[in-house]
Amino acid sequence: ILIYLTIQQSSCAPRSSDLTIERANEFITQNKNNVKQTYRLKYHAMAPIGWINDPNGFIYFRGEYHLFYQYNPYSAVWDTMHWGHAKSKDLVHWEELPVALAPDQIYDTDGVFSGSAIEKDGKLYVMYTGNNPNGQVQCIAVSEDGIHFEKVSENPVLDASDLPSNAQPQDFRDPKVFKRGDLYYVVTVSKTVNETGQVLLYQSADLINWEFKSILLEGTKEQGIMWECPDLFELESKDVLILSAIQMARSGNDYHNIDSVIEFIGEVDWNEGKMKVESIKELDHGHDFYATQSLLDDKDRRIVIAWMNMWGRTFPTAILNQGWTGAMTLPRELHLKNGYLTQTPIAEIANALQHVTEFKDVTLIDQSGEFNQVAGEVGMLDLVVNLEEAKLFKIELRANENERTILSYDNESKELTIDRTNSGVYIAGGENPPVNARKIEVPQENNELSLQIFLDQSSLEIFVNGGLETLTTTIYPTEERSEIILFYSEGKTVIKSLKFSKIVL
Ligand code: FRU
Repeated sequence: ILIYLTIQQSSCAPRSSDLTIERANEFITQNKNNVKQTYRLKYHAMAPIGWINDPNGFIYFRGEYHLFYQYNPYSAVWDTMHWGHAKSKDLVHWEELPVALAPDQIYDTDGVFSGSAIEKDGKLYVMYTGNNPNGQVQCIAVSEDGIHFEKVSENPVLDASDLPSNAQPQDFRDPKVFKRGDLYYVVTVSKTVNETGQVLLYQSADLINWEFKSILLEGTKEQGIMWECPDLFELESKDVLILSAIQMARSGNDYHNIDSVIEFIGEVDWNEGKMKVESIKELDHGHDFYATQSLLDDKDRRIVIAWMNMWGRTFPTAILNQGWTGAMTLPRELHLKNGYLTQTPIAEIANALQHVTEFKDVTLIDQSGEFNQVAGEVGMLDLVVNLEEAKLFKIELRANENERTILSYDNESKELTIDRTNSGVYIAGGENPPVNARKIEVPQENNELSLQIFLDQSSLEIFVNGGLETLTTTIYPTEERSEIILFYSEGKTVIKSLKFSKIVL
């Protein structure tokens, strides 16, 4: 009798005790060329292979932007987290760097979860959540060169004993560290015994010894069963808190994804350590936008980036064995307008735009049409339309006979809708009812609507009226030719200007 032995190839994740940085880097080097290119993005930050989620440690350090991210290099699904790492001089071209942190300690053996970065004495410090069977704790690692990190011997620097009595130690994570005056502060989140989210504030003189200060903000039942990835900063004389809420309750057109990113604008009382909230809003109205993190750079720009996916969904690139899942949004500059955040693509993206064509004052009356050379899978479409006598204006993107993604504006309800029902590979999710289309009410300015649409191989980011609203959505067309961009008007739409550019790095 012959016995055949099948030798397992190294493509499966090693046992947890083997999860070292060296092993991860070796695996990446050996396997990254096998990743399928079909849906890979052309101008967004992403990992060379494997799964990514949250942006972490986003910082401007020694003249470069560093971006770390939640990372499982070994397969295209979430598993024991590492920190991947990339850097950039312009937030557009990203250079891949070695894995920065691996789950190689008792306190982070179940994953190096999300966290942030700060510079102190010329060194790069990161603060992250160690996930372990006893709960979640906060830890510090330090780097002299911004690439190789050492976890400090004092870890964990925050554990269950630092929690207020209403918190659950199993859900205590995502430290975002910052400096104010002479002190360091960190905001983290925890789940309360009532199954709601809350933001906790700690302070420290040295980043190692921390003291509980206050519960900065407590969530209501409607605001989700747990909060994640808090980020607190000052912007144009207001205090801004952005966080991600698990299962935020739907309200009108808002918060329809299973999890949502919320912006809180208001004022923090630093003596009390409490935030007085003046306004609340969903930060992005597309399907795929979560776990934001922001930085302040040398030009004093507040720039935010998000994971361009959503929990609870099916991930087409994993299902189709593409070897990767997940990417980041375009970095976006934040400002305040009328009490709410606006998001605009970082100015540097302009250097990657190659002008293709431009049209002015084209009137569409109850008709559809294409514009010569306005077509593509990767590019930027910039248009201003006058809708005074329009009923409905619609753009079909990545279209062909069978598939299309529809962006439409209904001039009666004043709602802008992004519909990916027939975009390509169907994406199912944890939402009930399912979220194939998302919409947002957008008021016009002088009967006009301006849209800046960034297309990448499997994503769309739509900036409306100068960034007053954004809609971010992933799509996975299955047909080879899905380049067509089709315009349609019911009633009369005047396309005042339309520019189309390629995006080439
Ligand atoms: C948010 C999150 C974080 C956690 C990380 C784990 O997407 O759930 O709260 O630190 O992802 O990968």
